[in-house]
Amino acid sequence: MEFSTKNIAPGLAKTGCVIVGVFESRKLCASAAALDRTAKGFVSKAVASGDMDGRAGTTLLLRHVPNTACERVLLVGLGEEKSFNEKAYRKALAAAFGAVNATGAADAEMHLTSLAAGASTISWRVAQAAALAIESAYRFEHMKSKPDANARAIKRLTLAYARAGDRQGAERGLEHGLALGHGVSLAKDLGNLPGNVCTPGYLADQARELAKRYRSTGMKVKVLEREDMEKLGMRTLLSVAAGSAEPPKFIVLEYLNGPKKQKPVVLVGKGITFDTGGISLKPGGGMDEMKFDMSGAGSVLGTFKAVGEMRLPVNVVGLIAATENMPGGRATKPGDIIKSMSGQTVEILNTDAEGRLVLCDALTYAERYEPAAVIDIATLTGACVIALGHVVCGLFANDDKLAQEVLAAGETAHDRAWHMPLHDEYQDQLKSNFADFANIGGRPAGAVTAACYLSRFAKKFKWAHLDVAGTAWKSGREKGSTGRPVPLLTQFLISRADRS
Ligand code: BES
Ligand code: MN
Ligand code: ZN
Repeated sequence: MEFSTKNIAPGLAKTGCVIVGVFESRKLCASAAALDRTAKGFVSKAVASGDMDGRAGTTLLLRHVPNTACERVLLVGLGEEKSFNEKAYRKALAAAFGAVNATGAADAEMHLTSLAAGASTISWRVAQAAALAIESAYRFEHMKSKPDANARAIKRLTLAYARAGDRQGAERGLEHGLALGHGVSLAKDLGNLPGNVCTPGYLADQARELAKRYRSTGMKVKVLEREDMEKLGMRTLLSVAAGSAEPPKFIVLEYLNGPKKQKPVVLVGKGITFDTGGISLKPGGGMDEMKFDMSGAGSVLGTFKAVGEMRLPVNVVGLIAATENMPGGRATKPGDIIKSMSGQTVEILNTDAEGRLVLCDALTYAERYEPAAVIDIATLTGACVIALGHVVCGLFANDDKLAQEVLAAGETAHDRAWHMPLHDEYQDQLKSNFADFANIGGRPAGAVTAACYLSRFAKKFKWAHLDVAGTAWKSGREKGSTGRPVPLLTQFLISRADRS
């Protein structure tokens, strides 16, 4: 899709569809009113007829609007004017893009961007509009022999602003929104690809591709092979790879585009490209969804794409622990004891609790960067889905300020997280009679004990853990990756860049 921003009044330019808003109680927004004047009252008549009452999420398509150069006008319900905030704005955008993509229009001119929404800036509104336009046009058709003929979407989008002075803000917003949209799309693609295509080697190739594409920003990649990991002593990571014929990869992405002396933020992604559970085999039903178990890794790659495209002035390192979790003759068995890279020994009581086994060695590897903060992202526990469902990501942290910073980024990006407990008392559940501790803590508070396990490898830095098991993908008819939490992570880095 092609994008542009423009200071333009509605209805004057040739376009497939002009998009304007209507508040509840049938009040036209400023651009709808301007369009109505041009069209000699055609729009207000349509609204008065009762076909559009302005309720949030509703739309009405008008054709043959007199005195205008556009083929169509799409009216979008905005809800109540006095409660029209950022959330309502996003809801209106989603409805608008859904409706315009269902028409035959090839291009559109969006005027909702010039609405005042809560405390938002023009830059934020344009960024959200660009990112949501990309989201709503997203299709995953790489594996279909021919594209879906019914899946239409506009090809060009103009994002309008009402004041000439908004130009700079709108342009910056467009850059950020496009970069974010592209980052989210990459994360979705990687999640949606099947396990036989998106292997650890494929993730490594994607990282190499990013480093090549954004080389001018200083993005670099290094891929550690099995032998390299053996030399480093990443034995818990390798214990997960033991049952698989697919070679594991440890991917190191470096993007050092911020102030020279600034310590980097390290993002650590769980990259299990398929999780069978290993010898503690999962039940068969719905097991296909375990191709999404690399979503943490996908979100790291998506975030690198976004910050690279924005040329964001920050220092970030991405670490991806990529392997399959398979049963096999050489697979790790329940009861096996492995010495992690940190030197701590782990009794593996369940081979299906493999995410923490690959992440713990990655966290130890992160120490070498003396990071300002480490955030790991993982589809870690079914228990997190039980606790929080599919709305918010579970957030755990060993530092309250960092936790608040992550929560705030989620709020701004509308990609929310919820702070979960990490009290010492929970650590007792990991007790082992044979090793330093076990890799599972029983049924109670499963998401918390998983985070407790990770915390034992995060003592040397400020650390936050995002359990995205409930938010990284959708099941059922809409089955597919959501690209979360790329918006949260990207916003976290934007906010850090703004502060320094
Ligand atoms: N990848 C799964 C977690 C998961 C399960 C995410 C279902 C989304 C939906 C993880 O590796 C896993 O299997 N966790 C186990 C841990 C248990 C054995 C302590 C789980 O949640 O059942
Ligand atoms: Mn598992
Ligand atoms: Zn898993």
